[in-house]
Amino acid sequence: MRFVETRPPSFPHAPVDASLAPIPGERWQVMCGDAGHWRVGIYSPPEARRADCGELERHDCPELFLLLSGGVTLVLSDGQGGVRELPLQPGQPVLVETPHTAYCPGGPHSGTCFVVERDSFDTEYRVPAEWQK
Ligand SMILES: [Fe+2]
Repeated sequence: MRFVETRPPSFPHAPVDASLAPIPGERWQVMCGDAGHWRVGIYSPPEARRADCGELERHDCPELFLLLSGGVTLVLSDGQGGVRELPLQPGQPVLVETPHTAYCPGGPHSGTCFVVERDSFDTEYRVPAEWQK
């Protein structure tokens, strides 16, 4: 088990009224935000199978995932030490509160998600067997 604190400033300065260009092949890129409120980023995990996924993370606030391209499958704790999978669908955002991670079934970094979270929150990491209700 480990803990990570995310605190402001938690996002880079970004030009306004202009397109932002994510770098391909990065697991997680924070793009921009609104201090004291939200930040957004592009998530594209290198894991390509559920078996590649290790720890699940749980935040003390909800996190929104929206598939942008390719395929991304969420891996969610079932609360009993196991996991269930939820493939993201284009145009259908998912609000996640349970411990989670994700993989790209088409290969490393082959899918991308738009993610919305707070700019200040705590995260706890544990392997699935350690997430029991
Ligand atoms: Fe998360």
